[in-house]
Amino acid sequence: MDSSQSNHALVLGASGLIGWSVVNQLLSNYPMPGSFPRVTALTNRPVGLEESCWPTERLSTGRPSLRLVSGVDLRCDGRGDSGNGPQELAKTLLERVEDAHTFTHVYYFVFTSLQDHLEEVAVNKRMLENVIGALEILGAPLKFVVFPGGTRGYGIYTPGGTFTPPLAEDMVNNLPPDYAKTVVYPVFRELLTKACQGKSWTWCEICPDAIIGFTPNGSQFSLALHWAQYLSLYAHNHGLRPQETERPAAPVTIPFPGNEAAYDSKFTPVSAKTLACFAIHASMDPNNCGGGRLFNIGDSVKPAKFREIWPRLAAWFGMEGTSPVAPSADDASNDDKKVMPGQYIAQHQDVFLGKGLHRAVKAGVGAGSSQLDSVGTWLTFDRQLSLKKLRDSGFNEEKDPVDGWLESFEAFRKAGLIF
Ligand SMILES: NC(=O)c1ccc[n+]([C@@H]2O[C@H](COP(=O)([O-])OP(=O)(O)OC[C@H]3O[C@@H](n4cnc5c(N)ncnc54)[C@H](OP(=O)(O)O)[C@@H]3O)[C@@H](O)[C@H]2O)c1
Repeated sequence: MDSSQSNHALVLGASGLIGWSVVNQLLSNYPMPGSFPRVTALTNRPVGLEESCWPTERLSTGRPSLRLVSGVDLRCDGRGDSGNGPQELAKTLLERVEDAHTFTHVYYFVFTSLQDHLEEVAVNKRMLENVIGALEILGAPLKFVVFPGGTRGYGIYTPGGTFTPPLAEDMVNNLPPDYAKTVVYPVFRELLTKACQGKSWTWCEICPDAIIGFTPNGSQFSLALHWAQYLSLYAHNHGLRPQETERPAAPVTIPFPGNEAAYDSKFTPVSAKTLACFAIHASMDPNNCGGGRLFNIGDSVKPAKFREIWPRLAAWFGMEGTSPVAPSADDASNDDKKVMPGQYIAQHQDVFLGKGLHRAVKAGVGAGSSQLDSVGTWLTFDRQLSLKKLRDSGFNEEKDPVDGWLESFEAFRKAGLIF
């Protein structure tokens, strides 16, 4: 294991689901006090330290110093003098981080989603190129780069999926070429493989399915936030108040927003915390985790099903989570149960505003809403991950996948994103 005291972490996409959690873990002294004396967190949208919800006060236990560099667009679309992305970014970093030449570990959790998948690949490629090029210009003594892939890289965007689960890491090499060109992960692999040749640094990729976590500022593809806002508004509209112990006479039931096949399909969710811990763990163990290795990640080796998860999520809001309502159910009392979460939130978010929760409206999932709704209708096939390689790497943190949801709900409530 690497025990250097000169470690300086650069977390890109620090306002995102994974990036926020990596900063949170580093500031919480994971894996141990003193592992990272310095952390620099870079965000695109402006975020202030006071709204970041990170533990920022320095403790005698050796908590790292944090520098937040907010409002940096990694596309660097020629807004600067030269129009040259890496140079422009290196200049920005030097201006805003006096020790930018000392970055050692790069946690690259940036992703921008675009309608046109080929354009999405090109833009995301350019951003990573800008970062690696800038670090080269700065002469940073890099040791490790981590980036996240995703089950999209196993072909789950093809209806019914592409491979027979459990999905294992070597399958990514067999993606049909027409599909592979719509995903940026193979391009990242090629880019990093070339960039680290003859250098002292190495890299790995971590592949999650659904990531369950907290962000203070919203996140386009946060299923936990989307469902938390839906469940919270639904509970509120049916007379349930978190601070009141009195309950309505009849239990409030809320069906799974989707169909039976999605309710029963197997998958491997991961909390952003588990993902962040493994990213840090891997980056400090280059011999076992570097060399361009790909690792699936999950909270538990045992696949999950929404049939097991949904009732426990609803229960946190004081409700009874039930099986999906068949679209043909003609009972009028089921009408609001057939509305998908995205539409329900759009119809009722004024209730948040009416109660002063302005942030709940500002920091929702935005354009990601319809894709998140399709989790219940379109992901109707098994897609569980093999975690053998992860466990063989020595990372054995196994936990109940529902814990990540409930921890996120607590954090959303504390941050004023739900009732
Ligand atoms: N969410 C999931 O459940 C999930 C599941 C599997 C795989 N993944 C993969 O994980 C990766 C990250 O996803 P995520 O869910 O963590 O996304 P996220 O929460 O939306 O985070 C993405 C981050 O990238 C930043 N970013 C976007 N455009 C940028 C730009 N032009 N310049 C600088 N930063 C920019 C965002 O900052 P701003 O928001 O400030 O723009 C945000 O912090 C993606 O590859 C995704 O496919 C996600």
